[in-house]
Amino acid sequence: MDDLERLAAEIDRDATVVALTGAGISAPSGVPTFRGDDGVWDHFDEGQFTYGRFRSDPAGFWEDRIELQRELFGDDYEPNAAHEALTEMEQEGYLDAILTQNTDGLHGDAAAAVADDELENGADATILELHGNARQVRCIDCGRRRDGDPIFERAAKGERPPTCDCDGIYKPDVVLFGEQLPGAAIQRARTLARESDVFLAIGSSLVVEPAASLPHLAVSSDATVGVVNLESTPVDDAADVVCRADVTEAVPRLQSSL
Ligand code: APR
Repeated sequence: MDDLERLAAEIDRDATVVALTGAGISAPSGVPTFRGDDGVWDHFDEGQFTYGRFRSDPAGFWEDRIELQRELFGDDYEPNAAHEALTEMEQEGYLDAILTQNTDGLHGDAAAAVADDELENGADATILELHGNARQVRCIDCGRRRDGDPIFERAAKGERPPTCDCDGIYKPDVVLFGEQLPGAAIQRARTLARESDVFLAIGSSLVVEPAASLPHLAVSSDATVGVVNLESTPVDDAADVVCRADVTEAVPRLQSSL
């Protein structure tokens, strides 16, 4: 029995199974990762995108954010086999929640695709976007959320920062460095990690808090923890299973073993 088969043996419909994903699950779809070879932070400085900078220099923040958005989301990315395998696991009753650090919306696309195809079942994937969704913007005054494309176009044409009808400033609907995660989301994520019987960490370097602590919460709650990642992570030593493989190979293989 190889590592993934050992992990699959722990997963059944009665188990609480939670997946935490990072940029590595979207890399095969073409979305750049943040760290590792040619990562986003090799081309941009994280300091350009802090909450403090957004508040002190919103025009400069938006000028840089337009470039980052093009780098991260310039093409129309599609979910890949790993996203689809997680959605199928949820559809089949083997996965209770997907906690993602990604802001690309691809887990939602995969779930929506399955829901469209199998309306009688529907896909009620519990997807928690811990760092928000970069396809949307939100007014920091009235809280109104909107599709980001037209607002980014206005900003690219010179309206920096773009403003809401209430005269408030729009912010990309993502959690910026130095900004608190939405309390409810991280509390729910921590509860799920503590309650999990199996916790899967997929495609993440597991170095950014508070998400990086979630696998350790699962370990301390005696969950079976599996890591699927091309490079080593700080969780590897504490994990039960470490699968050094591409997500598009390992996650479908895990799903098909169930
Ligand atoms: N298969 C498996 N693993 C992969 C693949 C792949 N095809 N491609 C990349 N990886 C791995 C890399 O080895 C790396 O360890 O995915 C990991 C991605 O790590 P990061 O780029 O650090 O992304 P992530 O962990 O999601 O970053 C967390 O940091 O900058 C912030 O807000 C940003 O949400 C992000 C957070």
